[in-house]
Amino acid sequence: MFYEIQKILTSIFVVFIIVFGITKISNLIFKTEQGVVAYKVETTTELSSTKEEEVLDMSAFISLGTVEHGKKVFKKCAACHSINENGKNKIGPALWSVMSRKSGELSDYNYSKALIEHAKVWDFSEMNGFLLKPAKWIKGNKMGFAGLKDDKDRASVILYLNQNSSQPLPLP
Ligand code: HEC
Repeated sequence: MFYEIQKILTSIFVVFIIVFGITKISNLIFKTEQGVVAYKVETTTELSSTKEEEVLDMSAFISLGTVEHGKKVFKKCAACHSINENGKNKIGPALWSVMSRKSGELSDYNYSKALIEHAKVWDFSEMNGFLLKPAKWIKGNKMGFAGLKDDKDRASVILYLNQNSSQPLPLP
């Protein structure tokens, strides 16, 4: 009889240990996952806010790019934008001489209210902020493009835009 009770108690104890163990382990895993996610979110916010605050040195940034590489990157834009002199508006406005133009300035293109109201001159830092995350830089604009994450890609396409202009801006 005594042994019977001992057996029962032992098995209850074992079950308890197993359940407790599983909860602990899954807690650990869950916590680690949360940790990783939180870390990721932190890095992205840090990166984008650094760029938005232009802590980044513009001339060092632009020197990462080349016009030749920019020509290749522009293929992503060419579905919606022409770059040639006298190029027509497509889904997006014509981009000849866009650097030094004010945002939303072409009279023959139907801009969103957001872009017209933004009304800032497209210089190097303005274009950099926009092309990194168009939807965030000018809230409510209608450019259906996620942005260029890669610094070299962005610097290059900005150099390419600047070159395709009747009055290129001096490099920063
Ligand atoms: C899916 C189509 C699409 C793609 C791809 C796209 N754009 Fe646009 N873009 C637009 C539209 C539409 C607008 C007008 C936005 C508005 O009025 O809110 C615009 C606006 C702009 C403007 C503002 C021009 C002005 O006159 O103020 C610039 C600069 C620009 N795009 C650059 C680019 C560059 C550089 C790329 C490639 C890296 C690109 N876009 C890719 C559709 C696109």
